[in-house]
Amino acid sequence: MQSKRGKFIAVEGIDGSGKSTQVAELCSRLKAEGHKIYPTFEPTNGPIGSLIRQMFSTRITADDKTIAALFVADRLDHLQNPVNGVLKKLEEGFTVITDRYYFSSYAYHGAHMPLDWVIQSNALSAELLRPDLNIFIDIPPQVGFDRVHANRADVEIYETLENIKKVYATYQKAFDLLNDVEKIVSIDGNRSMEEVAGDLYQISVDCITERA
Ligand code: ADP
Ligand code: TYD
Repeated sequence: MQSKRGKFIAVEGIDGSGKSTQVAELCSRLKAEGHKIYPTFEPTNGPIGSLIRQMFSTRITADDKTIAALFVADRLDHLQNPVNGVLKKLEEGFTVITDRYYFSSYAYHGAHMPLDWVIQSNALSAELLRPDLNIFIDIPPQVGFDRVHANRADVEIYETLENIKKVYATYQKAFDLLNDVEKIVSIDGNRSMEEVAGDLYQISVDCITERA
């Protein structure tokens, strides 16, 4: 019997908002409860995502639109690749939970180029797959900045306070702009990990079981 198509949940937030920690925690809790869960992330560890990470870590520069377009390509590969693509996983009945999706592009690239252009250039992904739910882990930029600096030696190119503030503001702008077509829930990430995890779990379970 064909299993029911799974749900697609995207977790968003500025650097240091706790996405990676929370997605890992959420996925292991849901798996332990017997849910069929496939955790994933962007930039991916596929060929284009690896190129992006390499560009960041070695400080190779390219113009902003080229970088934004690489993220578009990485996302299309993330969705469609025949080995572990998100569309395939959903068809297999997995709930797919991704650490970042196209709202990250809107926020990070829209912070320094026209947001409309970034949204347009991601239209193919939006057509292929809109998240059943976008969850924004909301923390003040200063908190994200402090967390990143307290814990990392290799601060990435986007991670200056000024940039994080712009990214935060552009997330809000994109949420406002797309509020009619996207399901977006914001949770307060400036609390203990346990409190954030509790909310994230409840919202995700409601989505998976279609209570929301
Ligand atoms: P992101 O993936 O969003 O960049 P991480 O999960 O890597 O964020 O978390 C960034 C840092 O902040 C990590 O060192 C993590 O331990 C810490 N952190 C995450 N959530 C919290 C929280 N609720 N309170 C305090 N520190 C946190
Ligand atoms: P990520 O590995 O999630 O970093 P972190 O764990 O610090 O949040 O993402 C790497 C960087 O890539 C991050 O600064 C956000 C940026 N990014 C974009 O600029 N555009 C995008 O479309 C995505 C998905 C990420």
